[in-house]
Amino acid sequence: MILVNENYAKLQSSYLFADIAKRVKAYQAAHPDQTVIRLGIGDVTEPLPPACVAAMHKAVDEMAAAATFRGYGPEQGYDFLREAIAANDYRARGAAVDADEIFVSDGAKCDTANIQELFGAKITVAVPDPVYPVYVDTNVMAGRTGACRSGRYGRLVYLPCTAENGYVPALPEQPVDLIYLCFPNNPTGATATHAQLSAWVQYARANKALILFDAAYEAFIRNPEIPHSIYEIEGAREVAIEFRSFSKTAGFTGTRCAFTVVPKTCVAYTRAGDTVSLHALWNRRHTTKFNGVSYPVQRAAEAVYSAEGRQQTRALSDFYLANAKIIRDTMADLGFALTGGENGPYIWIQTGTRDSWKFFDRLLERAQVVVTPGSGFGRCGEGYIRISAFNSRVRVEEAMTRIRRVL
Ligand SMILES: Cc1ncc(COP(=O)(O)O)c(C=O)c1O
Repeated sequence: MILVNENYAKLQSSYLFADIAKRVKAYQAAHPDQTVIRLGIGDVTEPLPPACVAAMHKAVDEMAAAATFRGYGPEQGYDFLREAIAANDYRARGAAVDADEIFVSDGAKCDTANIQELFGAKITVAVPDPVYPVYVDTNVMAGRTGACRSGRYGRLVYLPCTAENGYVPALPEQPVDLIYLCFPNNPTGATATHAQLSAWVQYARANKALILFDAAYEAFIRNPEIPHSIYEIEGAREVAIEFRSFSKTAGFTGTRCAFTVVPKTCVAYTRAGDTVSLHALWNRRHTTKFNGVSYPVQRAAEAVYSAEGRQQTRALSDFYLANAKIIRDTMADLGFALTGGENGPYIWIQTGTRDSWKFFDRLLERAQVVVTPGSGFGRCGEGYIRISAFNSRVRVEEAMTRIRRVL
């Protein structure tokens, strides 16, 4: 008899963005004459930077000629891309990361989801609340969480991110083995200082724990004091894995390219207490289950680091941050307490009501603007909404005009 993985039954049935889509569809069916503006889901709207497009075209031409055609590439990514990442994203910022510690992939979602395969079933996992749902759901599927009661899984440790702690979680009171951190944060837009990240690195070192550091929104950091990488923190190379993505940096959400850094010094332990190299394990996993990102896409990603690519991708994130400023200014003007939007593309807004979905419905029905209810990201998100800066200037301005009119 074929048995199912019954952990899947513990997943919360409704997926946040499916719920939102259902409500928007119902509203549109009832009001076909109204145009809805979507500032909910975090997908980019601007086209690929010209430097990436040119590099991809050139690579496609190479694939069209017998002399330059390429078949399977190295699963870990081509050296030209790994070298460019190591030099520009790490060494240029004083972070010691070698090219062969970088694993190129088709997305930070897959990587943050798949990495947990390397760890034991009995470990204690800590997640921020509110949280990017992938961290939680993949551990549910793997059987590490227990059942869900009143919106929380019994065996997960939740790290509250609230106005009181500036949306940067305090160290846990009980011992944990695996810690998910995401800065700049989705959904709050918050960033962590050098001192705050140092405290986490020290915690991980003292407790033989591991930090999974999701830096998918690194390109939006403007405050020069804020670290871009966990490896800017002393001691992190032994206790942290970092995830990055070209999705938001360079508009690659539909093109697909990302990477994970696993330093060769990073370890986990056997039950007997022996150390095991996580670089070796991830290399084994990656080469067994993944066959590499396509050559034209890797060439396009490499172009992000060219002089023109750097200038064009900076212009992209500047554009979304200017949208974020319009959203911040409007909502602050209307009297809402908020955070984010200065070093990240999301603005996290206290609605002043206890119910995020009520506020969501109010904005949809009165202003025809779609946002994301904070409660969808966890219990600590109740009473908040997330507004995404990913849209055209015209739509963001129109959305803010409508919100001003109705609130
Ligand atoms: C925190 C965070 N990590 C990872 C991802 C996924 O990135 P990718 O498009 O590379 O899969 C997202 C996308 O929304 C995200 O918000």
